[in-house]
Amino acid sequence: MKLAQRLTLKQLRSLVAVAETASFTQAARLLHLTQPAVSMQLKELEAVVGQVLVDGRREIRLTAAGEVLVRRAREALAALDLAEIELKSMRGVASGTLEVVAITTAEYFVPHLLAEFGRRHPDIKFRLTVENRERVHALLQDQRVDLAIMGQPPRGFALRRIPFAPHRLSFVARPDHPLAGRPHIPPAALAGERLLLRERGSGTRTNLERFLRVHGVQPLAADELGSNETLKQAVMAGMGVAFLSHHTFAMELESGRLLRLDVQDTPVIREWNVLVHAERPMTPALEALLDFLQADGAAMMRARTV
Ligand code: PGA
Repeated sequence: MKLAQRLTLKQLRSLVAVAETASFTQAARLLHLTQPAVSMQLKELEAVVGQVLVDGRREIRLTAAGEVLVRRAREALAALDLAEIELKSMRGVASGTLEVVAITTAEYFVPHLLAEFGRRHPDIKFRLTVENRERVHALLQDQRVDLAIMGQPPRGFALRRIPFAPHRLSFVARPDHPLAGRPHIPPAALAGERLLLRERGSGTRTNLERFLRVHGVQPLAADELGSNETLKQAVMAGMGVAFLSHHTFAMELESGRLLRLDVQDTPVIREWNVLVHAERPMTPALEALLDFLQADGAAMMRARTV
């Protein structure tokens, strides 16, 4: 008899949960089962398969056979999740939970957009996470989210891309900086500056590097400090000049703690995109969010533009 006719979904879920948590106790908690029940499921599964799947009692590790089965079990469970989405969409109900991931810099505006969407569609719930570029790429590619909001789309798999708002980036400095208030600063003037950088791989960093390359500017020093918030604090502390998304410094600009340097060819203008995996089934809830972002989201972004 084929394996699929002998094993159960409960056994597969137990195996996947043990693989993910590396603990029978935590797997049991995840599955709302007791720990002996999870052990029993695994024993039965090993009997069905005829191979040992989990090695060791203290430190739980999968055997090579266990790895193979876990990988395929995850695919099978993901296929069932997709079936659930498709079935719901056949019923035509704009409800359920949408998984949204925003890239770091988008955290300055995505909550405002989703809050408004939530007011208009109280039956649609959403979960928002904010991640760096690498994680957004992985979550989107593995279809662990319904949609992502980011600048430059990831490559390597088919995507549906909806550009919905411009994204401006500029150099910012402390109000007492010698370049502050000067009109039409030539990019070459940045060569005498200490630039503070976001982490490698971030969209902001890539855009800055492109700007410097295009204008042939080599800054005096370039220090990688990390997050948008750290960069702003460092600029306010007088450590140097930073290149940042306008979304990140609206409040500091208003309070006069930072100002935008009028460097020629800035703001650099890029795009904010909504991205959906090309194979992601369209549900009424997802459709509603895409429609909202394209129309009202874009208008809200215009109103918030610095
Ligand atoms: P970042 O994102 O937070 O990686 O700089 C901005 C972008 O996607 O362009």
